[in-house]
Parts: sequence; C-alpha cells; structure tokens
Amino acid sequence: MNCFETAPEFIDEDNRQFRARNPISKEQMAAKHSVLMPESLVKGKTILDLGCCMGATGHWVLSHGATHYTGIEFQSEYAQSAQRLNNKYHPGKATIHCAAIEEWLSQPNLPTFDIVCILGVMYAFVDYFSILKLSTAITRSHLIVEGLYSGIAKEYPHFCGVQFVDDQTINLATEHGSLLGRGARVLPKGMEWLMLEFGFKSKEGLLYPPLIADIPDIYNRPLHQLGKPHPVRYLMRFERTPLKAQSLSQNLQTGIGMKESWSKE
Ligand SMILES: C[S@@+](CC[C@H](N)C(=O)[O-])C[C@H]1O[C@@H](n2cnc3c(N)ncnc32)[C@H](O)[C@@H]1O
Repeated sequence: MNCFETAPEFIDEDNRQFRARNPISKEQMAAKHSVLMPESLVKGKTILDLGCCMGATGHWVLSHGATHYTGIEFQSEYAQSAQRLNNKYHPGKATIHCAAIEEWLSQPNLPTFDIVCILGVMYAFVDYFSILKLSTAITRSHLIVEGLYSGIAKEYPHFCGVQFVDDQTINLATEHGSLLGRGARVLPKGMEWLMLEFGFKSKEGLLYPPLIADIPDIYNRPLHQLGKPHPVRYLMRFERTPLKAQSLSQNLQTGIGMKESWSKE
C-alpha cells in the first residue's frame, strides 16, 4: 500500500483529481514520487518544495525518512491544507510558507536544503533563469524538476532551449479550472544546459515513472501525442558537481576557451 492510500486526504482533497487532462491520483502520485524521490535519496535529508500545492510531496518525503519539509505555495487554500495535513501525519516536521516563490527566494540569509523540488511550476515563470539561479544557490545536493514539453519538441525532440507560450495554465485552488498566462517551457536539453551554468548535472537524464495500467501516463507518452488534450511532461534530477559551465564572456575574462582562426571562415 503506498503512503497516499494510508493518508488519502492529500489526494482526496486535491481538486486536481477533477482535471480532464492529467488528473492526479494516489497511484499516479506514488509512481511519480517513487522515481524522483526514493527513500535512499531522501532519508535523513531536508527538502524544499517550490509550488507545493497540497504538500503531497511533503507527505511522501517525510514518510520515507526525510527530517524536515518546507513548502512554498502562493494560493492560501492550498497552503493551509498542506500545513494541516502534514501536521496531522508528521507533527513538527513540516513548515509551509504562503508566499510567492520569487519573493521568498529573494530574501537574504535563507537556509540551505539538501534537496529542492520545482515540480510543475517553473513553466509559469518568464524569468526562469532567476528562479533556477536562486534555487540552486540554496541546494546542497539535488534539484528535481518536473517540466512540460512544448510544440517545438514534436518536431525537434532534442531542441536545446526554451519555448515561450501565451497559454500556460496553472490550477486554481478554489475552482475546477485553471488560470492562463505567459510562461516559459524549458525543454530537457535546455535544462541540462542551464543547470551546468549553476554547477549541476543530471546523471540519469529523463526519469520515467512505472506505467500504471489503464491510465494514460503523461510521463511515458510519446512526443507526437503532444497537444492540448495530450500534455507530455518530463522529470529530471540534477546533482551538484564541482564543474560549472563558463560563458563566452567569462572565457574572455579568464582567457580560457578554444580559439577559432578567421582564416577558416
Ligand atoms: C501544477 S501545481 C504543482 C503542485 C506540486 N508541485 C505537484 O507537483 O503536484 C503548481 C502549484 O504552484 C503554485 N504556484 C504557481 N506559481 C507560484 C508562485 N509564483 N509562488 C508560489 N506558488 C506558486 C500554484 O498555486 C500551484 O499550487
């Protein structure tokens, strides 16, 4: 029995179960978390979860040995539920801040966390670079991302970049509906490229949750099914490394980098 079966409110009180596209369920949430945050990774660790919704990730990590969970959530109804439910099942081990991620991350003297999660939320920002820069600065070992593919990935699955969209959606806590707006979908190769900038590498590449019988799985779905009724998502885990990418501008300042002779042009 997975930990969402024994604490059903995390899913039963989450209105995302009523989404026509990508409804959440106990099985699906357990499958996603089992591949992203196995006990071997989270045991004894502190976790920060940006855009925590009902705090289900908190329940998963605290049920698998994490020492403390911090969630950041802007919508107060979700934040209150996240605090109440984690208090019920894990008293004293969870702190939920009802705040905007970008403002919370910009505070001085933030603590560091072993693991930082940015699941299903980075694509709601236009300034994704600052979110990653601030998040990685307080990540001791792993940063975990759930992202969305975009139309360009249908044609160019290995596109190393970001697609800007006007019709990004985010679930609303008090309705059976979503809010629309501008967003930036960083594709997996783009994530790898960006994360090297901050000294993080993905060892495993894309992670795929175990398939669930009879449920269209958005993480294992082929890219050609991308489209409105068929969102396709990806999961990645990045680990801090001593290596950091250097930009051309930094090469110019340090004198390090390959040179190209004009005679070859
Ligand atoms: C799609 S949900 C993902 C929830 C959870 N991380 C998961 O994977 O199941 C995104 C959540 O992020 C919250 N959110 C979006 N933008 C935010 C922001 N700027 N600051 C804080 N929370 C935000 C939304 O209210 C929503 O609850």
